Amino acid sequence: MHANLPKLFQPIDLGPVRLSNRIVMTPLTRSRADADDAPHDLHVEYYRQRASAGIIVAEASQVSPQGKGYIATPGIHSELQVERWRKVTDAVHAAGGRMFLQLWHVGRISHPDLQPDGELPVAPSAVRPQAQAFTADGFKDIPTPRPLEAGELAGIVEDYRRAAENAKRAGFDGVEIHSANGYLLDQFLRDKTNRREDAYGGSIENRMRFPLQVVDAVVDVFGAARVGIRISPVSPANDIADSDPEPLFGAYVRALSERGLVYLHVIEGATRGPRSVEGQFDPATLKADFAGLYMGNNGYDRALAVAAVEEGRADLVAFGRPFISNPDLVERLKLQAPLAAFDETTFYGGGEKGYTDYPRLAEGQRAARA
Ligand SMILES: Cc1cc2nc3c(=O)[nH]c(=O)nc-3n(C[C@H](O)[C@H](O)[C@H](O)COP(=O)(O)O)c2cc1C
Repeated sequence: MHANLPKLFQPIDLGPVRLSNRIVMTPLTRSRADADDAPHDLHVEYYRQRASAGIIVAEASQVSPQGKGYIATPGIHSELQVERWRKVTDAVHAAGGRMFLQLWHVGRISHPDLQPDGELPVAPSAVRPQAQAFTADGFKDIPTPRPLEAGELAGIVEDYRRAAENAKRAGFDGVEIHSANGYLLDQFLRDKTNRREDAYGGSIENRMRFPLQVVDAVVDVFGAARVGIRISPVSPANDIADSDPEPLFGAYVRALSERGLVYLHVIEGATRGPRSVEGQFDPATLKADFAGLYMGNNGYDRALAVAAVEEGRADLVAFGRPFISNPDLVERLKLQAPLAAFDETTFYGGGEKGYTDYPRLAEGQRAARA
């Protein structure tokens, strides 16, 4: 039966984890956690509905209270959060799905309103982002962050290690390290945000030091075969930039490859925007530097995804917004059925509306196309 199906719909092994297809649900922040920054019954239902993805990478979850930058995002640092995530992973596994968790520290993309004791957000250097934070009182300008002291970095690495241990106890099949979209690890990598003059700044090797220490700690917990990483080398998300991203990301990806990470998740182009950025290199070329699986993302549709996998340009293709409004995205793509449009006004915050109430294809529509 598989013979006529495009490879996109055929199983693949992600390290020790067998996926029933090569379609990934990307991490999607939905800002619906409770007052304890814990997921709850709605999250169980939302992820269970989407369990037919080859694998779900659950929404970015802060590794510590300091790592938080938006209201109502879930954490993976407290016992309650571990217990609640366990209900989510149990439901996804019971439905035949697989699930990783995205580990997150926002660095400077935060606001004192969201930080413990109203402190300033932290970053490699005191470089203020041209960006706003969404707080309980609406959007607010982000202040200049407090530069981290070198002596504090080991503590943040430990936060990641504990978060990975928690994710394991919560039943995740593995974790994805969030090194994309201008958050803390990306801030260390890039010379626009990293102006340090110590061992963590300056040369490419120095700028990679802290992110790689995080990677090593997480790999210690899960083993490299259950750790993936996400990068967005040419995306301007959250006011990030580098004067020369191609050699930087080439070196980074080779270092990640040496560590045996199971997948490299690449946002190709500007996150949620054009698939190529003028004057920038094509990050899909980084596939050649990575020994593990290559996961492509950003603006894929069925034709692009089928071709990318068929032609060997990607091993896995990750869909974001289409999964918001199509819980049965895999089936719809398989049947070449129309996709439901997403409603951006319900992306962040709120309850069931725009979260768990997008319908599956009706029985009649399925039968007509099968
Ligand atoms: C509502 C929303 C929330 C997102 N949250 C995250 C997140 O938590 N972590 C992350 O790495 N990317 C996040 N992204 C980016 C998506 O994972 C993805 O890269 C982007 O939507 C492009 O893929 P698409 O064209 O298939 O939607 C988010 C995007 C949207 C629309």
